[in-house]
Amino acid sequence: MAEPVVAQKAPYEVEVEEGKKYLWCACGRSDKQPFCDGSHKGTGITPLVFTAEATETVYLCGCKHTHNQPFCDGTHSTL
Ligand code: FES
Ligand code: FES
Repeated sequence: MAEPVVAQKAPYEVEVEEGKKYLWCACGRSDKQPFCDGSHKGTGITPLVFTAEATETVYLCGCKHTHNQPFCDGTHSTL
């Protein structure tokens, strides 16, 4: 399995809608960050599907090295 690449060393601030499903890009290769656009094909990495628990602003990991997928946990500052 390929290693995830760093899309950016900072989270993406996005608005999510309660009950809606999102596909967070785990591989770092998507051109539609922070969401999956299918570019993970061939890497062995698959996107993380999550359902928003509320309509709110969330901070999704852009470095792809978080230990709390899909959310930023501050790990980007150690890369
Ligand atoms: Fe990165 Fe799909 S493009 S997980
Ligand atoms: Fe990945 Fe913060 S952007 S941990």
